[in-house]
Amino acid sequence: MKRVDDFRLRFGKREVVPIIIGGMGVDISSRELALEAARLGGVGHISDAMLPTVTDRHYKTKFVSDKQKQYKLNIKKTDKSIVKFDLEQVAESTRLHVSKTMEAKRGEGMIFVNCMEKLTMNAPRETLRVRLCGALDAGIDGITLSAGLHLGSFALMEDNPRFRDAKLGIIVSSLRAFQLFIRKNAKLNRLPDYIVVEGPLAGGHLGFGMDWAKYDLHTIVAEIVAHLKAEQLDIPVVAAGGVFTGSDAVEFLEMGCGAVQVATRFTASKECGIPAKIQQEYFKADEHDIEVNMISPTGYPMRMLKNCPAIGDGIRPNCEAYGYLLDANGHCAYIDAYNREVALHPDAKKISVKDKTCLCTQMRNFDCWTCGHYTYRLKDTTHRNADGSYQILTAEHVFHDYQFSTDHKIALPSLLP
Ligand SMILES: Cc1cc2nc3c(=O)[nH]c(=O)nc-3n(C[C@H](O)[C@H](O)[C@H](O)COP(=O)(O)O)c2cc1C
Repeated sequence: MKRVDDFRLRFGKREVVPIIIGGMGVDISSRELALEAARLGGVGHISDAMLPTVTDRHYKTKFVSDKQKQYKLNIKKTDKSIVKFDLEQVAESTRLHVSKTMEAKRGEGMIFVNCMEKLTMNAPRETLRVRLCGALDAGIDGITLSAGLHLGSFALMEDNPRFRDAKLGIIVSSLRAFQLFIRKNAKLNRLPDYIVVEGPLAGGHLGFGMDWAKYDLHTIVAEIVAHLKAEQLDIPVVAAGGVFTGSDAVEFLEMGCGAVQVATRFTASKECGIPAKIQQEYFKADEHDIEVNMISPTGYPMRMLKNCPAIGDGIRPNCEAYGYLLDANGHCAYIDAYNREVALHPDAKKISVKDKTCLCTQMRNFDCWTCGHYTYRLKDTTHRNADGSYQILTAEHVFHDYQFSTDHKIALPSLLP
C-alpha cells in the first residue's frame, strides 16, 4: 500500500515532499504555517492578500492608518474612485512580509506566495505588478496565481530578473482555463512550473458557478493530465479541494499528479492564523452548517460557515483604510448593496446587507469564516476536551498524517495533559 511519502514533487533537480499547504488569505496561511511546511520538506504558502494590513499587525508598520488619514475626508462619500494605494507602500509591505518569512525558513522545503488577481485595489495592473515583483525581489521561492485567469500576470513580471528562476504556478478549475492561459502567454516562452487544479470542494472562492456541485476534481484532473501528456508538456499537476486523508492524496499521485494542495485540515492547527476561539466553530460545524454563497463582492461563489458574523452584517464600507476589492473604476459590489439598504431604511440605526459582504473588513477581522467542504470532518481528526472544546493540532502532526498514513486512516494527536 503506497503512502504520500513514496512520491516526490520534482522541479527540475529539486525534490520536495508532494504536500503543498494552500494559500489562505487574509493571513490564515500564516508565516508560521508556511515555515512548518518548508521545515518538514513540503511547500507552504503565505498569502499576499491585504499585506499592508497584515504587516501593520506583525511588524508595526502604519500603512492602514496612513491611508485612512490621507482619505479621511472621503469616508462619508459614496464615490471611492479617488482612494488609491501608494504603490511604494504596497511594494514595501510585500517585501517586508516575504523577506521576514524567507529569512526564517529552515529545512529542505519551499515557500510560495498566493496572489489573487481579484484583489484589484482600484488599479489592477499597477498594484498586481508591484505585488508580484515585490515578492520576487524579496526572494520568495515561487508564486501561485489565484482567483482570476491571470492572462496578463506573467507579462507583468517579464522584466524581473527572477522571472525565469522563481517557480510560477497557476490555479485553474478547468482544462479550458489552462488552455486559455497557455495561448495568451505563448510569446513569453515561459510555461508555468506547476498547475494547481482546484475542484469544487475547496475553501475560499471557487472557480465555478453556483452549479459547483456538478463538477468533480478527479474528472478535471484526469482531463488536464491527459492533455499535458498528449501535448508532451512536463508540468506537475497539483490536485486541490477535498483531499482529506493521505490515501485521498495517493489516489491523485497515482493518477499522475505531482502533488496535492491541502488547506482545510491545517485550519485546525495552532500555526494557522485563525484565532483559537473561531477554530472551535470550525470543529463544531456539521455538514448543514456550511454553505456556498454569492456574498463575496468578487462575483465568485465562496464557501463559509453559515453562522459567521460576515453574513448579513451592514458595516459602512471601509475603503479608505482597506479598499482591496475596488475595481479599476473605484467600484465594489458591497458599496452598491450597502447604499441601497441605507436608501431603503433612512432612519435605521443598524443596516443589514444580506446579498453582499464587506469582504476586506470581514476577512481582516476574521469574521468571514471561509472553509473547505470537509470542515465538518475536522472533529474526527482530534480529541474532545472535558469542557467540550476540541484539541488544537500542530501543523507537524497534520503534515505527517498526510505523509505517512494509509487506508484512509487519520491519526489522532497525543492527548494533551
Ligand atoms: C480558510 C481557507 C481560506 C482560503 N483562502 C484562499 C485564498 O485566499 N486564495 C486561494 O487561492 N485559495 C484559498 N483557499 C483554497 C486553498 O488554498 C486550497 O486550494 C483548498 O482549500 C484545498 O482544499 P481543502 O481545503 O479541501 O484541503 C482557502 C481555503 C481555506 C480552507
